[in-house]
Amino acid sequence: MSDTQPAIDPYQYFQHLRHNAPVSRMEDGGPWQVAKHADVNAILRDHTTFSSDVSVRTIEERGAPSMLFSDPPMHHRLRKLVSRAFKPSHIESQRDLIQAKCDMLVGKMSEETQVDLVKALAAPLPVTVIAYMLGVEDGDMDTFKHWSDAIFSNIADILFAEPSPEAAKASEEMNAYFIERIEALRQNPADHLLGRLVETETDEGMLTNEELLSFCSLLLIAGNETTTGLITASVRIFDKYPETFQQVKQDPSLIPTFVEEALRYYSPFSGTVRRTSCDTEIAGVKIAKGELVIPMIASANRDEAVFDNAESFVIDRNPNPHLAFGFGIHFCLGAHLARLEGEIAVAALTQAFNGISLVGTEIGEESLLGGPTELLVKLVR
Ligand code: HEM
Repeated sequence: MSDTQPAIDPYQYFQHLRHNAPVSRMEDGGPWQVAKHADVNAILRDHTTFSSDVSVRTIEERGAPSMLFSDPPMHHRLRKLVSRAFKPSHIESQRDLIQAKCDMLVGKMSEETQVDLVKALAAPLPVTVIAYMLGVEDGDMDTFKHWSDAIFSNIADILFAEPSPEAAKASEEMNAYFIERIEALRQNPADHLLGRLVETETDEGMLTNEELLSFCSLLLIAGNETTTGLITASVRIFDKYPETFQQVKQDPSLIPTFVEEALRYYSPFSGTVRRTSCDTEIAGVKIAKGELVIPMIASANRDEAVFDNAESFVIDRNPNPHLAFGFGIHFCLGAHLARLEGEIAVAALTQAFNGISLVGTEIGEESLLGGPTELLVKLVR
């Protein structure tokens, strides 16, 4: 089965795929795209058939493995090392810090009537939180953000081809910065995530500098753009469904289901990638060993077979079995943190203002998968 490339609105295209070609080639000989919730879920759950070790570059070229792109037993080891720091209780202990940073950023926004939401709140909030976790909050946030953008936007080339000169330079600079920090932590231990990791002993000894670097860049890549996407998604929803702003303002207990529905409606991590480890079949379509498969999370989350009124935003949707954070062994390690940041941002915006709308019409939906890089908004007092 094959199909043509997306039309203007990706959500219309996803619907077309779900109805007509739920498992199809993206282009002749290209990766397989999978559009239905049940099939996406089945792929994410079966890490043996659908491997996350997708890169075509050798270990030497790639450096230390990252948990996102590894399979058990390596994945299990890497995830176990860091998962304690992401437990709900530990994340909850960061609430005051996130709240204070968010209040400060929203306070600054209140001085204007029109701002770029990405610059004012959606980008700086997650980058600061990750910088605190890594103990580098005294560093330059704009530089971290630049590294994260450069690496994130080139992730396909990093995995499957040569990284662009921009991405290579960003990783080189980031590595040099973090190596210096890691070396300093080996002399003077500190009580933050990176400090604890530097001291961690495993059955195979201490973590190497390379392994530590790989983890720092994974956090920057996995935790930044995605959380920015969740905050911009929330505001795009306030614009498209203005009544939701007033509903949340009047009844903040709606915030958790609002955020879950925002994750479903405009999924910030719109699709991931796997490689088949053997000949297999998805919904009756035969896929050979070694093929790339793209489980389309943003499409699965609009699947009418699972969600009533799938194309509408339902503020109190419950249950909401969206796949925005993935499923199975790679389920997002930062899900609690992302939800907390999203909830705090939505609460702060609805408390500070009387309405928020986008300035101008929305940029083409196709450029918004994952979230816009700029979002001009008008603030109503
Ligand atoms: C709204 C925000 C976020 C969304 C939508 C999101 C989504 C996802 C998804 C879909 C995966 C699984 C990918 C796959 O199976 O291939 C994932 C994995 C991951 N995420 Fe998130 N993420 C978000 C925020 C964060 C944050 C804030 C952090 C940390 C600071 C984080 C850290 C990770 C890590 C480390 C993994 C790899 C887990 C593993 O391989 O076992 N994420 N995320």
